[in-house]
Amino acid sequence: MPGASSSAADLTIEICSDLDVITSQIKSRRFAGSVGFQKRAQWEVAIAVSEAATNILKHGVRGQIRLAFYIANPPYLEFVARDEGAGFTSIERALEDRVSEGVDLRREHRPGHRGLGLGLGAISRMMDDVELGTGPNGGAIVRARKRLRR
Ligand SMILES: Nc1ncnc2c1ncn2[C@@H]1O[C@H](COP(=O)(O)OP(=O)(O)OP(=O)(O)O)[C@@H](O)[C@H]1O
Ligand SMILES: [Mg+2]
Repeated sequence: MPGASSSAADLTIEICSDLDVITSQIKSRRFAGSVGFQKRAQWEVAIAVSEAATNILKHGVRGQIRLAFYIANPPYLEFVARDEGAGFTSIERALEDRVSEGVDLRREHRPGHRGLGLGLGAISRMMDDVELGTGPNGGAIVRARKRLRR
């Protein structure tokens, strides 16, 4: 995948409340449609963005998600979610399905646990590439890309 280049279109969504999660789902689906993604791919982007938005509120206090579309061969949509929380405790474990806040739900029965540990896995499945990182102030960064197939 190419590195940073100027985007043909972009959109930034602030994530501070539950309503922003809903807004992020609607806006990201429309954004994907506006740059040429088919219906199914639009929904895949929307699911991925809303999982990232949910994680910002649940694990990272508040933050923002920037969507951008890049003309390349092939063209691709990228979203970058950043937040003001403490960041990932373990980047390796974060992507594992059914591991939530360090608890392995495949081995431990925790009916009251607030997460399923499926959000980041869903992002990986909906998008082509996902990278997790830590920002300069310690918050989590999730960068995900999806190629436009015609
Ligand atoms: N923005 C974030 N900041 C800090 N840690 C995070 C962030 N997003 C995810 N994590 C960590 O990665 C784990 C896995 O995230 P994931 O979205 O897969 O599951 P979940 O949020 O726990 O549950 P679910 O999304 O299924 O409701 C989280 O439990 C948390 O420990
Ligand atoms: Mg989650």
